[in-house]
Amino acid sequence: MAKILITGGTGLVGTRLTKMLIDKKHEVIILSRNPKNKNEFKWDIAKNYVDQKAFENTDYVIHLAGAGIADKRWTYERKKVIIDSRVQTANLLFKTIKENKIHLKGFISASGIGYYGAITTQTIFKESDPVGNDFLGEVCQKWEDAAHQFEGLNIPVTILRTGIVLSKQGGALEKMKLPVISPIGSGKQYVPWIHLDDLCYMYIQAIEGNLKGIFNAVAPEHHTSITFSKALAKSLNRPYIGICVPSFMLKLLFGELSIILLEGSRISAKKIEKNGYSFRFKTLKKALNAL
Ligand SMILES: NC(=O)c1ccc[n+]([C@@H]2O[C@H](COP(=O)([O-])OP(=O)(O)OC[C@H]3O[C@@H](n4cnc5c(N)ncnc54)[C@H](OP(=O)(O)O)[C@@H]3O)[C@@H](O)[C@H]2O)c1
Repeated sequence: MAKILITGGTGLVGTRLTKMLIDKKHEVIILSRNPKNKNEFKWDIAKNYVDQKAFENTDYVIHLAGAGIADKRWTYERKKVIIDSRVQTANLLFKTIKENKIHLKGFISASGIGYYGAITTQTIFKESDPVGNDFLGEVCQKWEDAAHQFEGLNIPVTILRTGIVLSKQGGALEKMKLPVISPIGSGKQYVPWIHLDDLCYMYIQAIEGNLKGIFNAVAPEHHTSITFSKALAKSLNRPYIGICVPSFMLKLLFGELSIILLEGSRISAKKIEKNGYSFRFKTLKKALNAL
């Protein structure tokens, strides 16, 4: 049994992960801006404040906190919030852990497949590929650099570059469940995805197994916007209309943020599989049926 501190543990991934860790008899503490339950402790990056009690006997930190990437238009201010909520928070954790000489067994951080850049190519990106030259590439690079600091304290670091998380409640899938399902943009861009439970099992394997280093957290089956929409329409038993939602509409609605909907390449799941992770939901059909 380990004691695990989860930042942003109140969110989509954190809520499910907390339940799965508790079911496996681990103890979970959460850092939140607005703590509500007795296992939740306060932090506030604007004030450089974190409740030190949260760190008592902590074995692992899982860093999930971050302002929603797709929640609002990417204004200058919003971009700063997106970066600071991931990087300043990691820096505050680092400072606290270093100053208090806390002997963590591991620091595990979320990152995104946005690392490789929002581009549609025939490349299947693997972990050793370079960072993309756009805003999300910058976010992920800074986020991961902040996580790598812990290696300087001899704390093993695991980073999960996460695809679109499919879940029953909230997240991207809820927004896709329209009365009529259509692909978007060219329809040819790839949509790297992962079932929420697979992602949570990966975090658990980073604690209970030996997942150290950087891994893509995506399912091995690749889908374009067209094949994804067809599978979704079939699983929901809703009409599929093969006329793509035009790119200009999404650009008008979402501005620069639309790029994450309109572009995407395949992302390789081979490294995590080679390291012993076995997917519960390898195919989109199985994942959507379960959801
Ligand atoms: N869901 C996906 O499809 C997906 C894909 C790729 C990567 N990821 C990454 O995985 C992590 C977890 O994802 P998720 O879907 O669980 O995210 P989520 O539901 O949006 O939850 C993230 C948590 O971060 C905290 N947070 C939000 N804004 C913040 C801010 N400005 N400053 C500090 N903390 C803030 C919130 O906790 P409190 O309100 O309790 O403070 C929130 O519950 C995120 O970093 C996300 O970027 C997710």
